[in-house]
Amino acid sequence: MKLSSIDIAKSNAAKEAVKYVRDYEIIGIGTGSTVEKFIEIISKLDEFRNKLYVASSFDTILKLTNLGFKVLSSMNIDEIDVYVDGADEVDPELNMIKGGGAALTTEKILTFYSKTRIFIVDSRKLVKKLGERCPVPLDVLPGAVEMVTKYLRDRGYEVKPRESARGRCGPILSDVGGVILDLHTGPIEKVQSLDYLLNSIPGIIEHGLFIGLADTVIVGYTDRTEVLSK
Ligand code: A5P
Repeated sequence: MKLSSIDIAKSNAAKEAVKYVRDYEIIGIGTGSTVEKFIEIISKLDEFRNKLYVASSFDTILKLTNLGFKVLSSMNIDEIDVYVDGADEVDPELNMIKGGGAALTTEKILTFYSKTRIFIVDSRKLVKKLGERCPVPLDVLPGAVEMVTKYLRDRGYEVKPRESARGRCGPILSDVGGVILDLHTGPIEKVQSLDYLLNSIPGIIEHGLFIGLADTVIVGYTDRTEVLSK
């Protein structure tokens, strides 16, 4: 099968990330198609066989265990050496929107508690302002969905439950049992203010703004990679 230019760019970012991870023993792994390429690559490298992994989603647990990797429960660890994940948007300060795969809550926990945080993206993910292309996902307690929605709509935000494209009627549920809502903002002028607002709303378990949480972003192009660091 012929790989698309986007697949090649994702693979290039994933290959480059191997160098940043190989010296660590406990590795956190995110969710999504770029991370899937990273998992495929390390599955072919012997040095990654005896390391321990923590996954950000059920999907990633399955991908890792199916390839024979040892996956720890996050209940058994108090810190992660290095975390590797994708992102939906990255701004020039390396702030990000994440949660296109609805795994944002565990992704943020693993990111926060990791000593080193590496993100791998293809170049389409670079934006001038967060919100340009993607909504901000919210993981919301089921009993608070209507109240959270009204609260945000009253403040001028467009909020939509994320519907499953196929296979399940109704909104998408996250791995932690929340309902995924998408907050359509357009380009966000003040990301810190929106981060603060969303952190302050009871019922929102977590949201997809990742502010100041990336140490390194590896950007894949079809013919090269670019490493952005804080
Ligand atoms: C999962 O919830 C997301 O945060 C993903 O990391 C993000 O959507 C990037 O996914 P892709 O690598 O598939 O673009």
